[in-house]
Amino acid sequence: MKAVGLFRYLPIDNPESLLDVELPVPRATGRDLLVKVQAVAVNPVDTKVRRPKDKVEASPKVLGWDAAGEVVEAGLNCSLFKIGDKVYHAGEIGRPGCNSEYQLIDERLVGHMPKSLSYEQAAALPLTAVTAWESLFDRLAIALDVPANQGKSILIIGGAGGVGSIAIQLASKVAGLTVVASASRPETTAWVKDLGADHVVNHRNNLVTEMQNIGLPQVDYILCNNDTDAYFSTMAELIKPQGKICLLVDSASPQDITVLKGKSATLVWESMFTRSMFQTPDMIEQHHILNLVAGLIDDGTLKTTVNQVMSPINAANLRVAHAKLEAGTTIGKIVLCGWK
Ligand SMILES: NC(=O)c1ccc[n+]([C@@H]2O[C@H](COP(=O)([O-])OP(=O)(O)OC[C@H]3O[C@@H](n4cnc5c(N)ncnc54)[C@H](OP(=O)(O)O)[C@@H]3O)[C@@H](O)[C@H]2O)c1
Repeated sequence: MKAVGLFRYLPIDNPESLLDVELPVPRATGRDLLVKVQAVAVNPVDTKVRRPKDKVEASPKVLGWDAAGEVVEAGLNCSLFKIGDKVYHAGEIGRPGCNSEYQLIDERLVGHMPKSLSYEQAAALPLTAVTAWESLFDRLAIALDVPANQGKSILIIGGAGGVGSIAIQLASKVAGLTVVASASRPETTAWVKDLGADHVVNHRNNLVTEMQNIGLPQVDYILCNNDTDAYFSTMAELIKPQGKICLLVDSASPQDITVLKGKSATLVWESMFTRSMFQTPDMIEQHHILNLVAGLIDDGTLKTTVNQVMSPINAANLRVAHAKLEAGTTIGKIVLCGWK
């Protein structure tokens, strides 16, 4: 089968950073599905795993943790899907990714694809939708109940990126929160407003002043989709007493968590690979989340976050997509579709 992989961890402008390779088609056993991949999205995790280092792989390492495709084989213990089902999934960080014509994936991490979307529209969603859903409803424990959230507010830092684009919609349309999204450019400001942000603040300015200017000096919840260290003390100022902050991005330097004590503020981490990495007893929740999101797409509550589609899925196009992500200016999602 066709695949895109790497042997060496090189800067993305090196043509050998991602290579077109041929690999054997794997076989599905146990709870694995074999999915024929039709479209993939790229995420910052791809570029982080690919980050230059000295290590050399003996066989091609396949990246990619966002896919839509069709089930072509199911292991004997599978019960959630049948051959021919259209599916979408993020996957597991410790297994080969989706940048290959066929991929094995535990069925508990797979959802039925939204019926109203094409493969490329669906591939934009799984990793960021699971991340945003787990952040808002599992980690921050926001009620899935609009009346219960009346008068409550959330600040989403980095609103126009992949995670922010779906988190804004979930926080606004599903939870009924007042949503403040951060964006720094006219095009990202327009994007987050279109997705349902009630207010936009500019993260290139002082966020404390920006929040005062919109009349919301403190919020009940903060989701930080960007530099944890740069925003940590600002978030401590912006969170309400007894509020909750969710972090997604590794901290490069130690932070003083006692700044949150006076307010009894909660600090939580989200890693969307936790459930699969530790094979938690509730890892099937990711199957349920993806099915719920599919239903919310099909009933018109949510919309796909795809913003650019490239074809085909090959090393040259993936190198372009990685370079765009590394620039830090992506709006919504970049998707690649089809194999030639
Ligand atoms: N823990 C997890 O499970 C998990 C899951 C998914 C993602 N992540 C991490 O979360 C981060 C965001 O992921 P993503 O997919 O949303 O990234 P992304 O799509 O690459 O984000 C791009 C956006 O970042 C915004 N941005 C750039 N500089 C910023 C700054 N200084 N402050 C705030 N926003 C800034 C840009 O908005 P403007 O152009 O308006 O500045 C741009 O629209 C990544 O580090 C990713 O690895 C973690």
